[in-house]
Amino acid sequence: MSDRTAIVTGGATRIGRAISTALHEAGYRVWVHYRSSKDAARELTRALNRSRAQSAELCTGDLAVFDDVERLAEQLLQAIPRLDLLVNNASTFYRTRLGEVTRAQWDEVMGVNLGGPFFLTQGLLPSLERAKGSVVNVTDIHAERPLGGYPIYSMAKAGLAMMTRALARELAPGVRVNAVAPGAILWPVGEEPSESVQQRILERIPMGRFGEPQDIARAVLYLAEAQYVTGQSLSVDGGRSIKS
Ligand SMILES: NC(=O)c1ccc[n+]([C@@H]2O[C@H](COP(=O)([O-])OP(=O)(O)OC[C@H]3O[C@@H](n4cnc5c(N)ncnc54)[C@H](OP(=O)(O)O)[C@@H]3O)[C@@H](O)[C@H]2O)c1
Repeated sequence: MSDRTAIVTGGATRIGRAISTALHEAGYRVWVHYRSSKDAARELTRALNRSRAQSAELCTGDLAVFDDVERLAEQLLQAIPRLDLLVNNASTFYRTRLGEVTRAQWDEVMGVNLGGPFFLTQGLLPSLERAKGSVVNVTDIHAERPLGGYPIYSMAKAGLAMMTRALARELAPGVRVNAVAPGAILWPVGEEPSESVQQRILERIPMGRFGEPQDIARAVLYLAEAQYVTGQSLSVDGGRSIKS
């Protein structure tokens, strides 16, 4: 597998970092995309290159800005003639109170979670097609059941879930498109809930624990390799979505 190439958006920190690392361990050459986490991205690619020479690269771009997504796609298309895997992991996640939603919030949340993944995928299609590669979109269990206080994020992730199915249909049999829908894995930075709230959330998770970034990474790796699976969404949520 050593000549396979993957791109992971938002691949320098948290879940994205676990995905980048797992793909690298599996033998992929990994392009780590970042927007603001430059130091973390540099440190990660240095570590990956130390363990295997010329196996990790950096790229950057704001996925909420259309021109930047186009520039990033063009740059990656030139650099990677054959792309085996694109992981659309980057996301922005914050409360949007109905009645107070601004155009800027709409553009950012929809851009990073839906428009960016779409236009990046579209821009990279020639490379994906040459490699008969695949796309894995990281959605959310709240793509199906809206998260209170987060209507725009829930709508964007629902769009990304539909993009998974719609593009799988458009691109078969050449390119597969699947999704991983995480449950509760990591709290947003600086927003860890109280012990009692965490306990209430845990009670609704049949597996009795929060997930780990590696749980998501393993699912991405599975879908990357599952040659007869396309248009599917794999919930990695400890069973949360089967309980009311
Ligand atoms: N954490 C969870 O429990 C959970 C639950 C359900 C679903 N998910 C999904 O799983 C994925 C990873 O979750 P996470 O919590 O690790 O994500 P995160 O930390 O909230 O964000 C991941 C990355 O997205 C990048 N990003 C944000 N805004 C961007 C922009 N405008 N342009 C380009 N990149 C941007 C950031 O890169 P920089 O740091 O470089 O700016 C960030 O590191 C996301 O798609 C998320 O929706 C997570």
